[in-house]
Amino acid sequence: MIDSPSLRQRVFTGLKPTGRLQLGNYLGAIRPVLDLAADAANDVLVCVVDLHALTVEHDPARLRADTREMATTLLACGLDASATLFVQSAVPAHTELSYLLECTATYGEMQRMVQFKEKGRGNPSTRLSLLTYPALMAADILLHRTDVVPVGDDQRQHLELAIALARRFNARYGEVFTVPRAAVQPAAARVKDLRDPTSKMGKSGADPSGVLFLMDAADTIAAKVRRAVPDDDPSLTADDPARPGVTNLAVVLGAVTGRSAEQAVAGLHGAAALKAAVTDAVVDLLEPLQRRHRELAADPDAVTALLAAGAGVVLDEASHTLDAARGAMGLLTRSDR
Ligand code: AMP
Ligand code: TRP
Repeated sequence: MIDSPSLRQRVFTGLKPTGRLQLGNYLGAIRPVLDLAADAANDVLVCVVDLHALTVEHDPARLRADTREMATTLLACGLDASATLFVQSAVPAHTELSYLLECTATYGEMQRMVQFKEKGRGNPSTRLSLLTYPALMAADILLHRTDVVPVGDDQRQHLELAIALARRFNARYGEVFTVPRAAVQPAAARVKDLRDPTSKMGKSGADPSGVLFLMDAADTIAAKVRRAVPDDDPSLTADDPARPGVTNLAVVLGAVTGRSAEQAVAGLHGAAALKAAVTDAVVDLLEPLQRRHRELAADPDAVTALLAAGAGVVLDEASHTLDAARGAMGLLTRSDR
């Protein structure tokens, strides 16, 4: 086992650059990472996983723009100060380790992944990389000697495979990898679409009128919240399944202001008051973030430099881990060449 350079716990997460980030991404994924990063015991790596975006039909110009946009937004959220942010393809060891892990995994394992079954199995034009995607994800995690991966439910199976591959590799070739563990987030807020509160708020949905994007202007947010599914009952509840629209607004208000949904609606009377409170809270949350985003977007060289600095932090250690894996598998290492 390679000695850990520090006693801090290494946390790794990857975010795929597809579409504009929305409030659900912030509350469900970005803020939990910011919280982890705020704890000095954690050494947090955040990776914009652009290679994963190539597993389905994609537009090159769009991918480039989405990668920059996601990185800029994550920086604007403050991740540069407390975590290390970098773009996956800037660290070529990810792809090389992915190949080594493909040679550790089996076809049967890959085929059993639920996401592959849902998104591609049986379709001859499915990209091969969609099948092998979990090996790349395992490489992302294992390359950086990750201890903990904060995951949502949809990624649990992929993470379990990464754990299985780390154990198998270590048992077969020697102790190279840290075996990671999942940190399933404690009931992160599940934000629903404002117009269709039975389905999740999503960044690439067909109808954006129920989605609060992080870069939406204050009046757009106000208009979207005002048009949220109407509910004429003047009483407010935080958890009535028969009134998903009201419940969702209560959840959003609670999550944004750091309270429970029940606490958030206490003292408010009627849907109009709730909507006004939601608008104010979301605008207050997003305003500083948008200001920072504007500054960064006006200075693309600064963003490039921050991303290069992030990659610079991980490159050296990553190439050592890769070299250890290469050597263990019988490939020549840097010292042999
Ligand atoms: P996606 O945008 O679906 O690729 O998701 C990226 C991350 O954001 C994942 O960790 C999701 O769990 C989280 N996320 C996306 N939408 C929501 C939502 N509506 N509520 C809570 N978390 C979400
Ligand atoms: N597969 C993840 C998703 O679709 C993104 C991802 C890629 C990731 N590599 C990772 C998440 C490593 C955690 C750790 O959301």
